[in-house]
Amino acid sequence: MIDTARLAIRPWRLDDVAHWKAMSTDVGYNCFSSPPGIYLVRDDAEAAERIATRMKAFTDAKIGKMPVFEKASGAFVGTCGADFFDLSGGREIEIGYRLMLEHWGKGYATEAAQAMTRYLLDDAGFAKVHGFVHRHNRQSEKVLHKTGFVFVKDFLWAGLPHRLYLAEH
Ligand SMILES: CC(C)(COP(=O)(O)OP(=O)(O)OC[C@H]1O[C@@H](n2cnc3c(N)ncnc32)[C@H](O)[C@@H]1OP(=O)(O)O)[C@@H](O)C(=O)NCCC(=O)NCCS
Repeated sequence: MIDTARLAIRPWRLDDVAHWKAMSTDVGYNCFSSPPGIYLVRDDAEAAERIATRMKAFTDAKIGKMPVFEKASGAFVGTCGADFFDLSGGREIEIGYRLMLEHWGKGYATEAAQAMTRYLLDDAGFAKVHGFVHRHNRQSEKVLHKTGFVFVKDFLWAGLPHRLYLAEH
């Protein structure tokens, strides 16, 4: 669905079971996940169930966090996309990205986030996209800066201190 110089991002498919299982226990992918272990699956059936839920959400809403692949090798790199979230009683969308540890430090998160933000604002027709990070998650905050997001405010998300960012059309 989205192509960048080095990456391909597409919706989940049922044959992505091995990718979900890999990310479910990857140390890097699971950093700052809330609650911890939220992506964990114990077998193929559980992974397929989680993927089916994502596929249905994508069919319904046309957005979601999707798998990202390295075009040169076909390797599964992580996920990037958007989901709805509640902000002060209003329904907004937030961008998210998570990479497998072996793919940190290559510029892939920023490359994916930039393309996804352009897609959401220019093609999918959203007027604004939020991003938020735990206040100790400096690597993620850097991705938002490099993607052109501007700081809005400190706020609590899932009871934890986060920093809210915004990109607008
Ligand atoms: C947040 C996260 C995705 C950031 O990944 P990342 O690889 O550090 O981010 P980037 O894609 O921006 O890569 C930046 C690094 O790649 C380096 N890099 C190497 N080659 C590069 C290239 N060709 N182009 C751009 N940057 C390159 C940059 O110098 C930079 O290193 P630095 O931060 O030490 O200066 C990653 O830490 C992660 O998955 N964390 C766990 C999940 C998470 O927290 N997600 C966000 C929740 S809000």
